Amino acid sequence: NARDSEKLTGILEQIGYVEEEEENQADFVIYNTCTVRENANQKVYGHLGQLNRVKKKNPHMLIGLCGCMMQEPEVVEKLKKSYRFVDLIFGTHNIFKFAELVATRLESDRMVIDIWKDTDKIVEDLPSERKFSFKSGVNIMFGCNNFCSYCIVPYVRGRERSRNPKDIIREIESLVADGVVEVMLLGQNVNSYGKTLEEPMTFAQLLQEIEKIEGLERIRFMTSHPKDLSDELIEVMAQSQKICKHLHLPVQSGSTRILEKIKAAVPDISLTTDIIVGFPGETEEDFQETLDVVRKVRYDSAFTFIYSKRTGTPAAVLEEQVPEEIVKDRFDRLLKEVQSISAEVCSVHTKTVQRVLVESVNDHDDSLVTGRMSNNLLVHFPGEKDLVGKLVDVRLDTCKGFYYLGEMVASIRV
Ligand code: 5AD
Repeated sequence: NARDSEKLTGILEQIGYVEEEEENQADFVIYNTCTVRENANQKVYGHLGQLNRVKKKNPHMLIGLCGCMMQEPEVVEKLKKSYRFVDLIFGTHNIFKFAELVATRLESDRMVIDIWKDTDKIVEDLPSERKFSFKSGVNIMFGCNNFCSYCIVPYVRGRERSRNPKDIIREIESLVADGVVEVMLLGQNVNSYGKTLEEPMTFAQLLQEIEKIEGLERIRFMTSHPKDLSDELIEVMAQSQKICKHLHLPVQSGSTRILEKIKAAVPDISLTTDIIVGFPGETEEDFQETLDVVRKVRYDSAFTFIYSKRTGTPAAVLEEQVPEEIVKDRFDRLLKEVQSISAEVCSVHTKTVQRVLVESVNDHDDSLVTGRMSNNLLVHFPGEKDLVGKLVDVRLDTCKGFYYLGEMVASIRV
């Protein structure tokens, strides 16, 4: 979604818009929505209520909505009925038409709606306004075929389709020429990259091609599904100089066998995950097993979610939805366990020197900068703004649970 937003911003800049920080002052406001959990939708309706008041004072303001939530027919029906002041609605499959849709709205005087159910196309070379100069997301595939029973993504992002490797390499090369040193390869299910290509190719093969790009220092990817996590990929990760030592493997589909294999091949791998609490029918015993997984794997960190009922998914019609108080209590217990383990696991790097990519000046203290290690941990250390985008070596002095305080020992690239 963040990458899509960069494309939306890029398109708007190309047609002459200038970014305005203050939402109330803007002539055009666009929300790129998420719908993975119901509260994301609720937030959008809340924002729209507020914007409606602003628009009453400033009738020329245009309001656009796009992204995953718009792929749900009930949402669009609701907007058509109760949110008539929205000007433009489109979905996930036709971002490339954004400029045209804005023009259509300006020429007509009606709500413009353009939602595609699915697509087999990939449109290349969209403009994009990158948030960071030194790192960038790169889409390698779109959509998902897994249909996990709770998950709405396959319904709103369509079927799996992979970008041509040549297009991916070309994009990364031009990003590198523009100063990018780290890429995050993006896909709902990156491990099944390449299956739908005319000349099929594996994700591991793609990684090897990307590794060859001169000037590129770091490669990350997100998100993996264990079903397609091949031995070949583990081997490539173990051999690679550039692939970061971090694997985000949502445990709602985890496997001991695969975890052990990757830990053996890449001993200092950092493992992170997603966990859902309160899936219909979850008993206290089931929940204890979730805690058990957390204790056994000892995750570096985990995103924890309360199960959200998404209309249209198989799990939504299951009886035995778990009562809210029970879910909340389990969620709190899980979070405590995750946080205390993560503090212990993260602290093992204390006093070591790690290479980090400096991402920003620290939000709270501008004498500090913030760098990201290969294993995805952050370290704050004294440094100037001109370090942003550089790879430097930092000694990790104190562990603060999820992050470190440290001191720079050497700068690698000037
Ligand atoms: N309820 C709660 N969490 C969900 N996720 C996906 N669908 C749901 C749902 N219906 C979580 C999963 C996934 C992450 C992106 O969001 O953990 O990995």
